[in-house]
Amino acid sequence: MPTEPPPPPVGRIDIHSHLLPGIDDGCASLDESIECIRMLRVAGYVGTVCTPHIWPRHLPDNTPTLIKQRVDDLRREVAAKGIEYAIWPGGELQLFEGAIDWMQAHGVPTLAGSRCVLTDYWGDDWPDWAPGIYRWLIDRRYQPILAHPERMPIAGDASFDKVLRELESMGVWLQGNFQCMTGEEGYTPDMLVRAWLTDNRYRFMALDMHGPDTLGGRLDGLLLVETEFGRDKLESFVTNAPRRDLFGIN
Ligand SMILES: [Fe+2]
Repeated sequence: MPTEPPPPPVGRIDIHSHLLPGIDDGCASLDESIECIRMLRVAGYVGTVCTPHIWPRHLPDNTPTLIKQRVDDLRREVAAKGIEYAIWPGGELQLFEGAIDWMQAHGVPTLAGSRCVLTDYWGDDWPDWAPGIYRWLIDRRYQPILAHPERMPIAGDASFDKVLRELESMGVWLQGNFQCMTGEEGYTPDMLVRAWLTDNRYRFMALDMHGPDTLGGRLDGLLLVETEFGRDKLESFVTNAPRRDLFGIN
């Protein structure tokens, strides 16, 4: 049985990444994963939670069991190269109507063995069944996180802020993407990420990296958060919150 590594050394932890090779639209090969890890270490990261897309219609093999196996494989490859870098399993569960049945069959894809569950949604409207998935998780003492609400297709709708407020009042945490700071995602995410950073709506900010080609731009977004909102606020997202909320370390 593989064992979880000890808690990470002090440093930045990315809670949302597509670092595992060849499992979704993230890193395509082991070489790409290693290149990303080298870039992340230079940027002060000590570890990454691997959150491949969990989307049964298009990626039916991505289950918590497979993701844990693939994390163990990558850990071995990284250690064999003499690179110190922590890697944990997770997942990015796309909300879909059968998600509760799927989790009952395959398990809940928690982040690094914590109670946190990363979710996303790409529909053009907010379905009636979506809050029930969060309620189901919360009733079972899981902590749902909604990934990058600022870049959801419905983010610009006038009614979306009411939806988001309702989710937050249920206890859903929000995770913003650094890349939205750069304008590469368009005007609405650029505007919303700054507004919600100003209003302290985010629990985490993450890279949501998909490979070496775009990681540099995502790290530029991290630097913009530091420039515009300060070093302490940046570290609260990438150092303090992951350590506290995923590993129970204050
Ligand atoms: Fe993602």
